[in-house]
Amino acid sequence: MNRIGISIYIFLLLSTIYLKQGESSQHSCGIDGTWKNDLGSYIDISCGDGTIFGVYRIPVSSGVDSYDFAGKYIVTGKNGEDRIVAFLVPWNNPNCTGNSNSTSSYTGIYFSSEGIIYTHWILTGYKEWASRWATNLIGHAIFNRTTNVIKS
Ligand SMILES: *[C@@H]1O[C@H](CO)[C@@H](O)[C@H](O)[C@H]1NC(C)=O
Ligand SMILES: *[C@@H]1O[C@H](CO)[C@@H](O)[C@H](O)[C@H]1NC(C)=O
Ligand SMILES: *[C@@H]1O[C@H](CO)[C@@H](O)[C@H](O)[C@H]1NC(C)=O
Repeated sequence: MNRIGISIYIFLLLSTIYLKQGESSQHSCGIDGTWKNDLGSYIDISCGDGTIFGVYRIPVSSGVDSYDFAGKYIVTGKNGEDRIVAFLVPWNNPNCTGNSNSTSSYTGIYFSSEGIIYTHWILTGYKEWASRWATNLIGHAIFNRTTNVIKS
């Protein structure tokens, strides 16, 4: 190999190593995994670079209703072990309830010391303009880590 050949070879080698590291860091952001809330619903969280995506699962009499969601997080807290996280769940899945004309946005904090994500949410449901004062509900949800996984 001549000099240019060697340079290209080293460049490709380093790129591969860099990409491998990037890939593995995408799979762990501190909050990836399965969580259960105080009303018995589950969320599965996967991580990208500053982003999260996942599935919100609600047990119902006929099985499990599931909804895709997406969000963002930032690293915070002592030693960078906690996270501030926000995600949006459109209640729309043709496989179960269809379009419920509503979304919930969750915003909260992951406390690594407690292993919980402590959130508040606002649910916006469609209303006619004249009833717009009634478009939002606000609530509170705590998600605990769980190894129990339910599938739709
Ligand atoms: C979540 O964890 C807290 C603190 O350990 C506990 O009090 C609560 O009952 C748990 N909730 C659920 C749904 O497991
Ligand atoms: C609906 O079900 C199909 C078939 O199982 C699946 O491919 C698709 O991803 C589901 N859609 C949603 C929004 O979950
Ligand atoms: C959602 O809105 C559409 C009209 O845009 C309506 O046909 C449908 O019944 C609504 N769904 C629910 C669950 O309210």
